[in-house]
Amino acid sequence: MAERTFVMIKPDGVQRGLIGEIIKRLERVGLKPVAMKFIRMSREQAEKLYAVHKGKPFYESLIEYVTSGPVVVSVREGPKAIEIVRKIIGATDPAKAAPGTIRGDFALDISHNVIHASDSKESFEYEHKIFFSEDEIVKRERIDEKRLI
Ligand code: CMP
Repeated sequence: MAERTFVMIKPDGVQRGLIGEIIKRLERVGLKPVAMKFIRMSREQAEKLYAVHKGKPFYESLIEYVTSGPVVVSVREGPKAIEIVRKIIGATDPAKAAPGTIRGDFALDISHNVIHASDSKESFEYEHKIFFSEDEIVKRERIDEKRLI
């Protein structure tokens, strides 16, 4: 099975009308969506998602912000999906994110950085289960993949 990763378009990305642009960038490098939802996450889900940051100075404002409006959560599939998505989204701090990356092109500051994605297989396993049950992940093949065989 190809690698999977968890991707979330954050409230600022949704509010600024960037859903289509972000999905386009992920799709054109062949990262297939296998699950996607438009949700307003609960405080409990936010605390789970960002549990590793509990106690850090930005934790409370991060939880408040990520629950402040709708987000798009998704699971993407493709070879080396985790590494490729991290490259496409760019560094956490937009000041360090290269031009051409999603954050480099659109993020306003480190708190409003448009998108989140898993940084390892372990974080994917943990993160996607907060939002998706196993039967919500769709098994599929893309038409162009079939033609390559
Ligand atoms: P994300 O990839 O979603 O993971 C944790 C988030 O915390 C990060 O993106 C940032 O949006 C947010 N954050 C806010 N302040 C900081 C900070 N000083 N260092 C790291 N992350 C921060």
